[in-house]
Amino acid sequence: MPDENLILTPSGRFPEGLTGPEDGFVTRSRGAGGWRTDAATDPYPDHLGKETSLPAALITGAGSGLGAEYARQLAARGADLILVGRDPAALEEVAGPLRARVDVEVLRADLVDPRERARVEARLADEEHPVDLLVNNAGFGLPLAFETNDIEDEARHLALHVEVPMRLTHAALGPMLARGRGRILNVASVAAFMPRSTYGACKLWLVSFSRWANAVYRPRGVTVTAVCPGYTHTDFHARLGLPPGQEGVPGWMWLEARDVVRLSLRDVARGSAVSVPTLRYRILTTLVRVLPDRLSARLGMTGR
Ligand SMILES: NC(=O)c1ccc[n+]([C@@H]2O[C@H](COP(=O)([O-])OP(=O)(O)OC[C@H]3O[C@@H](n4cnc5c(N)ncnc54)[C@H](OP(=O)(O)O)[C@@H]3O)[C@@H](O)[C@H]2O)c1
Repeated sequence: MPDENLILTPSGRFPEGLTGPEDGFVTRSRGAGGWRTDAATDPYPDHLGKETSLPAALITGAGSGLGAEYARQLAARGADLILVGRDPAALEEVAGPLRARVDVEVLRADLVDPRERARVEARLADEEHPVDLLVNNAGFGLPLAFETNDIEDEARHLALHVEVPMRLTHAALGPMLARGRGRILNVASVAAFMPRSTYGACKLWLVSFSRWANAVYRPRGVTVTAVCPGYTHTDFHARLGLPPGQEGVPGWMWLEARDVVRLSLRDVARGSAVSVPTLRYRILTTLVRVLPDRLSARLGMTGR
C-alpha cells in the first residue's frame, strides 16, 4: 500500500491562477520504486511522474509551540526534519512520533551562542544533505517596560529575533540559490505593524527584510515569507511569567497553533512575502496602518 503524503514541492516556480488551499503542494506516494509525484494534483508539469528526493525542513525552536506544530504538519506532508533548540528532551519528544513517517535529526543549539549556532549554519550549508525549507521560528518575549529590562536580556532578544534569522538565512541562501529552489519562512508577528517595545521593532525588521528578499530571490527560485501571527496559544506567554488566562488578552484575539501553521504554509507555498494568518488579524493590521501613532501605540499595549 503506497504511503500518500502531501509535501512541499521542490519546484521554485509558481504558475499563475492557482488559488486552492493546496497551492504549491504536491501529492507523493512511496511505492516499491521510491517516491513518485501524483500527476492528478501536481501543478508543476515538469515534475510529473519524475522521482525526486524528499524535501527537508530545518526548524528552529522546534521543541514547543509553533515550531513543534510546523514539525508535525511538515512531517504529515512527508518532509524530513532537522529540529533545532536548546532542550534535547523537548526536541526528542516532538521527534519521537514523527519518526514513523519521516527522518528526523535533532540538533541541540543555543542560537545566541556563536559556536553552537555555527553547527546549525554548517548543517544549512551541507550540499550533500540539502535543506529545502528553513523555518526561523525560535523566539522569546520580554516585559514591555524597556527601561527596566536588563540590557543584556534585550541584547539576547535582539540577537535571537534579528541576528540569528539573518545569519541562518545567509547560510541557507547560497546552496538554495545554487540549486535554484528553496523556501525560507521567518516567524514574525502582527506586533510588526504596531509600536510594541523592542519586540515589535525586531519583528518589523524581519518583515521588511523578508519583503525585500522575496522580491529579489523569488525570481531565482527561492521564496522568503514573513509569517505574522496574532496571539497564539503556545508556551510563549507562560515563559514570560504570565499564566494562562492572565495575559490581559481578550478571548477573540487568541489563535491556535495548528491554524497559524496551516494557513502560513499555504502562503509559503504560494510564495507570498507576508502572511497574516486569519481574516480577523488581516483586518486588524490593515486598520492599524491608518491609525494615528498615539492610538496604534495604545493597541500595541494590549496584553502584558
Ligand atoms: N505565541 C504567540 O502569541 C506569538 C505571536 C506572534 C509571534 N510569535 C513568535 O512565534 C515564535 C515561536 O514562539 P512560540 O509562540 O511557539 O513560543 P514557545 O512555545 O515559547 O517557543 C519558542 C521556542 O524558541 C526556542 N528558543 C528560545 N530561545 C532559544 C535559543 N536561544 N536558541 C534556540 N532556541 C531557542 C525555545 O526552545 P528552548 O527554550 O527549549 O531552547 C522554544 O522551543 C517566536 O518567534 C515568537 O516571537 C508568537
